[in-house]
Amino acid sequence: MASEKSRVLVLGGTGYLGKRLVKASLRQGHPTFVLQRPENCMDINKIQLLLRLKKHGAKFIEGSLSDHESLVRAVKQVDVVISALSSSDISTTATQLQLKIVAAIKDAGNVKRFIPAEFCIDPARHVHGLEPAKTLNVHMMDVRKAIIEANIPYTSIAANCFAGYFVPNLCQLGSLLPPKDNKVSIFGDGNAKAIYVDENDIATYTVKTIDDPRTINKTLHLMPPENIRSQNELISIWEKLTGKKYERSTISGEDFLAIMNGANAIIQFGITHNYPIFYEGGYLKSFKLKEGDENATKLYPDVKYTTVEEYLKRYA
Ligand SMILES: NC(=O)c1ccc[n+]([C@@H]2O[C@H](COP(=O)([O-])OP(=O)(O)OC[C@H]3O[C@@H](n4cnc5c(N)ncnc54)[C@H](OP(=O)(O)O)[C@@H]3O)[C@@H](O)[C@H]2O)c1
Repeated sequence: MASEKSRVLVLGGTGYLGKRLVKASLRQGHPTFVLQRPENCMDINKIQLLLRLKKHGAKFIEGSLSDHESLVRAVKQVDVVISALSSSDISTTATQLQLKIVAAIKDAGNVKRFIPAEFCIDPARHVHGLEPAKTLNVHMMDVRKAIIEANIPYTSIAANCFAGYFVPNLCQLGSLLPPKDNKVSIFGDGNAKAIYVDENDIATYTVKTIDDPRTINKTLHLMPPENIRSQNELISIWEKLTGKKYERSTISGEDFLAIMNGANAIIQFGITHNYPIFYEGGYLKSFKLKEGDENATKLYPDVKYTTVEEYLKRYA
């Protein structure tokens, strides 16, 4: 008899990544549930989005992150919990919310796999050494430690850079759209490589892993080979697609960090988050998979991932 697909609960199902996770889970045949928070009952956009997810086949479970018992009840109805809460909020609130989920999963005692809200550069690599980005890293590791201490089977998703935040804007700060004036700032020498991943692919790989024994208590690294690119390469691909030539001007590491002076918290976070991606050779310069790591493109060669070129074509 064919084994049944795990029942999946997505927390943060109306978020940027969360809605993609819900759809990927449904596409892969999992009975899929979204936590419906009472806090959203006056949010017309979220209600409409939930109705669209319902049309795709999602079901709802009522529960609040501030009501432990409701969360335990929700978790007890499924086999797998995926948290897509925003963890880029460096306030302690985001960590506290994640820790509440961990506490509910621990008390429920039935969950076969938990995917915490990481979906970024692997926090265990401690790439982010500058504040305020460092704090976010510390918070994510606190959550990971709590999961391990509670003996909850988990998989961490090292999704690297969400394409939508880095690729169309050619890594520029302050806009998510391609630069309009044919001028582009190059960070350092522009040759540091980073990994850019389509958000729908992140969702697909995440759902692929939930019933896979090879990824239990491991970190799944999303590193599509064609998407390991330098900023210079991204710009050249865009130039080829549009037939435009961009004037490239270099920003030194010192000048890049100086943008933080007097800037708001979001920019400060962006600068300290992006500095190790682009400067000092980039975060991949000495990257190697180690024990406890798995490579998603190797484990799931059947996934036809979106290349950065295909991603950029949407904006051309
Ligand atoms: N690597 C990258 O480049 C990158 C970029 C962006 C994000 N990420 C990661 O992706 C994951 C998801 O981020 P996202 O950008 O998709 O998040 P998001 O769009 O901000 O969505 C977060 C969701 O969390 C839920 N939520 C629960 N309690 C909340 C509260 N008290 N306040 C606000 N929202 C609350 C909401 O969904 P409900 O109302 O449905 O509960 C909300 O839609 C995070 O782990 C983040 O770090 C990575």
